[in-house]
Amino acid sequence: MVMIAPSILSADFTRLGEEIAAAERAGADMIHVDVMDGHFVPNISIGQVVVKGIRKATGLPLDVHLMIEDPDGYICDFVNAGADIITVHVEAATHLHRTVQWIKESGKKAGVSLNPATPIWSLENILSEVSLVLVMSVNPGFGGQEFIPQCIEKVRTLKRMIQEKGLNTLIEVDGGIKPDNAKEVVDAGADILVMGSGFFNSGDYAEVVRELRERVGA
Ligand code: DX5
Ligand code: ZN
Repeated sequence: MVMIAPSILSADFTRLGEEIAAAERAGADMIHVDVMDGHFVPNISIGQVVVKGIRKATGLPLDVHLMIEDPDGYICDFVNAGADIITVHVEAATHLHRTVQWIKESGKKAGVSLNPATPIWSLENILSEVSLVLVMSVNPGFGGQEFIPQCIEKVRTLKRMIQEKGLNTLIEVDGGIKPDNAKEVVDAGADILVMGSGFFNSGDYAEVVRELRERVGA
């Protein structure tokens, strides 16, 4: 069954605890937390202090997406803040293998993320080391952007690569996901769908989850 990860970037931050509780009640499988530094991406969002707060607000896994330059110096902070999955961008980590090892040695699941223009083959020598690959289907930095359809083929290629290597790496797709495009993303091989605006800008979170699951058929 496909997993749904609402991105709190589009939540009402004045009521963040309630928003997370509502996402949990609606059937979210994990909470996606977008960390942006104003360097790797043009936007600045939230950091480890907020992750620490969210940790107290939910029992769901916290899926922390680091859109930050040179993430090594911050891994420890997010581990201590209570992240369960820590994902770094291949474009941002100079010594990606070491960064991934640090995350794993901290007892957390490690993920790597690819921007839309970054090829799948850049994962060749790291894939077996990670629990998940986050395929960006928008250029990172903002919620509410349009889904880039070329990412579908990328997900398909990645799925094949994972299967050929006999791995059980999860594929997460992030950006512009709505109930009406979720099926082709899942059919291509996605295991986790991140939904920011599609989830939090809807009037009824449970209805979005229901509609998405119905369309995807899983
Ligand atoms: C974009 C973030 C996404 C974003 C998704 O940089 O990584 O997680 O919140 O938002 P939507 O679903 O609105 O594209
Ligand atoms: Zn994200």
